[in-house]
Amino acid sequence: MNEIEYSAERKITPAQFIDILSRSGLAERRPVSDRGRIATMLDHADLLCTAWADDNLVGVARSVTDFAYSCYLSDLAVDRAFQGTGIGTELIRLTQSQLHPKALIVLLSAPQAAEYYPKIGMTQHHSAWVAPASPPIPGSPP
Ligand SMILES: CC(C)(COP(=O)(O)OP(=O)(O)OC[C@H]1O[C@@H](n2cnc3c(N)ncnc32)[C@H](O)[C@@H]1OP(=O)(O)O)[C@@H](O)C(=O)NCCC(=O)NCCS
Repeated sequence: MNEIEYSAERKITPAQFIDILSRSGLAERRPVSDRGRIATMLDHADLLCTAWADDNLVGVARSVTDFAYSCYLSDLAVDRAFQGTGIGTELIRLTQSQLHPKALIVLLSAPQAAEYYPKIGMTQHHSAWVAPASPPIPGSPP
């Protein structure tokens, strides 16, 4: 297998993002049928780390971050044909290398990856909370 190239600068198109989500298996948990929403996810990401084999996109780590305190690693996806070869771990390492040394990466694991994160040294946080989109948090509008 040829060497994998990594980048924290290369941009990808919504079509490429949808394609890698599909080839990884993560597409079923992301809004891939709504291209506008996918485009907005890319436009407003602060950090996009990618892995390339012969100029083909084989992995992506998309994060929303302030680079100083916290980094929400929203989407980590590796092409099925390349899974288990170290790309996911390298993408997380590259993501971390772009942040302040004390910044924390947080994420919500897909069920199929729940055993992966402890394997690579991440720890589970027992007071993580999610505000569901629907119904929204109750209260009077501002
Ligand atoms: C989960 C995922 C990102 C991991 O990336 P990867 O490149 O395949 O993982 P790595 O090669 O860096 O794996 C490092 C180790 O974790 C293991 N591992 C990989 N995926 C795993 C999983 N889903 N569950 C448990 N262990 C896993 C690897 O076998 C390897 O173990 P080893 O060091 O003993 O050989 C990738 O498999 C993927 O895209 N899966 C489908 C989409 C998904 O679930 N994404 C996560 C969303 S939260």
